[in-house]
Amino acid sequence: MSWAPRICSALLILALAGLPSSASGQERSDRQIVQQLGTAGSQYGCVICHKDKRRAFAEGVHANRGIVCHDCHGGDPGAVEKEPGHAAPFVGIPTKLETVRICGDCHSDPNQMRPFGLPADQAAEMRTSRHGELLFYRDDPNAPTCTDCHDSHTIRPPEDARSDVHPLNIMGTCVACHDDEAMMGSYELPTGQGETYRTSAHGIGLYEHFNFAAPTCISCHGSHSALPASETQVADVCSQCHALVGQAFYAGPHGPATRAGQMPGCLACHSNHGTELVPVEGIEAVCTSCHEEAESDAAVMATDIQTLLMRAEGNIHSAEEAIHELGEAGRGTDDARFRQRAALTDFHRMGPAQHSLDVEALEDLGRRVSTVSANVRNQAEVAEEQRWEHTLLLVPTWFLALAAIFLAYLRLRQTKGEA
Ligand code: HEC
Ligand code: HEC
Ligand code: HEC
Ligand code: HEC
Ligand code: HEC
Ligand code: HEC
Ligand code: HEC
Ligand code: HEC
Ligand code: HEC
Repeated sequence: MSWAPRICSALLILALAGLPSSASGQERSDRQIVQQLGTAGSQYGCVICHKDKRRAFAEGVHANRGIVCHDCHGGDPGAVEKEPGHAAPFVGIPTKLETVRICGDCHSDPNQMRPFGLPADQAAEMRTSRHGELLFYRDDPNAPTCTDCHDSHTIRPPEDARSDVHPLNIMGTCVACHDDEAMMGSYELPTGQGETYRTSAHGIGLYEHFNFAAPTCISCHGSHSALPASETQVADVCSQCHALVGQAFYAGPHGPATRAGQMPGCLACHSNHGTELVPVEGIEAVCTSCHEEAESDAAVMATDIQTLLMRAEGNIHSAEEAIHELGEAGRGTDDARFRQRAALTDFHRMGPAQHSLDVEALEDLGRRVSTVSANVRNQAEVAEEQRWEHTLLLVPTWFLALAAIFLAYLRLRQTKGEA
């Protein structure tokens, strides 16, 4: 890349960074907020006294839709004194249940939500969840209400990175309660799900690779309908994303065993919050933790699967090395790389496929990987041999050249001696 576009973009960034921080910008947007919230021409008393809420509210999604303080709190917005301002019907600090009603006035009404393409089922969904049970039927002060997960004034849509319900922030929103040992202790629930999840394959995918396809707490539990997935259903939850694995899993004996409640589906080998890949060399140990009998079909199969996967992995590595050697020998590697990619595809099918416990299918894929890798290795060996032949051919050439120089030197001395 040349330097010109870089300087241009640097200048642009500087210019943009300067804009919002200027004092006049702040002034203006404050005035704009008052105007925006004031009904045409009249004063809007609430925001004159409640400056902090004015700012907080103006940053949220509702301010842009003409929604104002008294839509949720009631009171008289035309008044500039407290008593008349808070005139009935006035809701000061709503209770958790009142909050559901306030938000639900709009959000449970499909007609009001349709223009924005929003579902109108949050309150209904909450009724089905463990949270809703506490909130609606037990009047429990620990139950989360709408504003525990969405803030009360700075409410933003999930796709806004500053929102409490953006994928990167959901964990923090949930663990605000779920890491509170005193609170969770009274329900005999463990804490620490966030920390375990954070260091799992999923947490690392999301927080370190910014892979937004990785699940957050709500992908497995639901957001408004948060419930733990039952052991008989959990394989379906995981299969929503790991579709190929799910297919293979249900094709083998473990699928039906999960449905029958004999084993906790995917969790048996991958756990729920600390989801990890089973290391290849640990497969046998995982299987024999349930199938203890050394001579059983399952135990034999465990050894087969582990061997097949390890061999395929070894083949993939040796093919990679061979391609490297081809390059060193100055040979074209395009063809070998092309074939290596086909082998990689087969190799990547083995991981999901082994969930069916169909050893023959696995052998088939393994054979294809090994054929390609043997082929590429062969090519590299031939290239290496030819390189040696080349080097050997050079030996007589050098010998002749050195001999000629030596002869010439002798001849020179001879002529000097004669003179
Ligand atoms: C003259 C200033 C003034 C006006 C106008 C005013 N308030 Fe207040 N409001 C206050 C003060 C001061 C408090 C602090 C709590 C108290 O003493 O009741 C308060 C408290 C509140 C509370 C919290 C209630 C509680 O129980 O703690 C809410 C909600 C509220 N106001 C909303 C509004 C709304 C909505 C409007 C406009 C319809 C409004 N206020 C108009 C001054 C005002
Ligand atoms: C979408 C509904 C909604 C709107 C609009 C709204 N509020 Fe609130 N407000 C709430 C809820 C719910 C609470 C209860 C606090 C909580 O759950 O965190 C609350 C709490 C308050 C409180 C007392 C609690 C505190 O944090 O000090 C004040 C004061 C207040 N609101 C003022 C305002 C003002 C001023 C506006 C307009 C700029 C406004 N609210 C607009 C829903 C709303
Ligand atoms: C007066 C009606 C009204 C009330 C009351 C109301 N909302 Fe909204 N809300 C809306 C409208 C309209 C939108 C759509 C705004 C948009 O998309 O620009 C919205 C948007 C949202 C969004 C963003 C959705 C998205 O994906 O874009 C959230 C989250 C939200 N509201 C939560 C709440 C919560 C929580 C409460 C109660 C504290 C509440 N709302 C109270 C009307 C309301
Ligand atoms: C336990 C936390 C929690 C509670 C309680 C909660 N929400 Fe949500 N809400 C979320 C999460 C997380 C999302 C993001 C969902 C997603 O990205 O799929 C969300 C999304 C939304 C949306 C946007 C929906 C969309 O499809 O874009 C609205 C609107 C909303 N919630 C309103 C509410 C209302 C109203 C209540 C109270 C009845 C409520 N929420 C209670 C966590 C919660
Ligand atoms: C305001 C506090 C609070 C917040 C925020 C909260 N929870 Fe909870 N949650 C609870 C409480 C309290 C329980 C205990 C309910 C019970 O066991 O009866 C619970 C229970 C649960 C359960 C059921 C566990 C079981 O086995 O009984 C799940 C699952 C859950 N929460 C997931 C979530 C997720 C996901 C989020 C974030 C989107 C979240 N919670 C946010 C307070 C909260
Ligand atoms: C919302 C989609 C989604 C759900 C639901 C989901 N996963 Fe994942 N999973 C992913 C993604 C995406 C990755 C890759 C993350 C990364 O490395 O970037 C992944 C990675 C993994 C890995 C590591 C794979 C590897 O090659 O390193 C395992 C094992 C796994 N998931 C198992 C599970 C299990 C078990 C469940 C159910 C309890 C589950 N997943 C639920 C999307 C999902
Ligand atoms: C990949 C799917 C997945 C993700 C992501 C996930 N959970 Fe879970 N969670 C489960 C499953 C499955 C169970 C049920 C475990 C069982 O039955 O053994 C569970 C159980 C729970 C429980 C019940 C108590 C316990 O630990 O068994 C809570 C609370 C909970 N999860 C909260 C969370 C929170 C908070 C997050 C985000 C930090 C989260 N979960 C992320 C799948 C997931
Ligand atoms: C009996 C133990 C076991 C069960 C049950 C199980 N897995 Fe696996 N899983 C494995 C093993 C072993 C591997 C291969 C590890 C390797 O290649 O290093 C694997 C690999 C994976 C991978 C990575 C696949 C790849 O591309 O290499 C994912 C994703 C995965 N499992 C998800 C799931 C899901 C989802 C379920 C439930 C439907 C599930 N697993 C059930 C043992 C299990
Ligand atoms: C959490 C316990 C658990 C783990 C771990 C587990 N299995 Fe199973 N397996 C079961 C259950 C339960 C059944 C169904 C009941 C039965 O037929 O024994 C089953 C059935 C089987 C069957 C068909 C029945 C039979 O015994 O021939 C085979 C084969 C099998 N498993 C192989 C494996 C292999 C290979 C692994 C490791 C990759 C493994 N299992 C890991 C619990 C487990």
